[in-house]
Amino acid sequence: MTNVSGARHPEEAMRETCRLIRLPSVTDVRGSLSFIESSEHFPAPIRRVYYLTGVPEGERRGGHAHRRGQQLVIALAGSFDVMVDDGHVRMSFTLDRPDDGLFIPTGCWRELNNFSAGAVCLVLASEHYDADDYVRDYDEFAGSTPSRQ
Ligand code: TYD
Repeated sequence: MTNVSGARHPEEAMRETCRLIRLPSVTDVRGSLSFIESSEHFPAPIRRVYYLTGVPEGERRGGHAHRRGQQLVIALAGSFDVMVDDGHVRMSFTLDRPDDGLFIPTGCWRELNNFSAGAVCLVLASEHYDADDYVRDYDEFAGSTPSRQ
């Protein structure tokens, strides 16, 4: 079983930073099967699953941070880019394989764009949907991020 964090417990290793997680995948002549287990590949119980389909060319999604929620974002089909920003460092990831998950911790701004035709974006979330969990104003988000020592 693949452990995302080597010797460390996943919860400890995944707490603070956005990171790509290579998910286990079993491939044979019938195709590929990938799987995700709470604790092993995601540091919390998975309480919600949602997915984006039919995103038109040039369209953007996201544009918010979560106060509590943690998420794992996967390109089940096609590809798209995810920009993540913790208020200090901004990084961009291209997701283009169904066995890669981008872990986005609490308090991290994200924007998704450059969707290929037919892309499917699967999101596993640690919380049920709650509009109050969203920060949709970037300046408010940037002003609320803890300063670095
Ligand atoms: P939105 O946050 O704009 O999507 P994205 O971040 O992917 O660009 O959500 C679009 C609409 O869907 C908005 O009215 C809230 C609603 N929604 C739910 O009802 N439940 C959910 O789990 C999510 C993610 C969104």
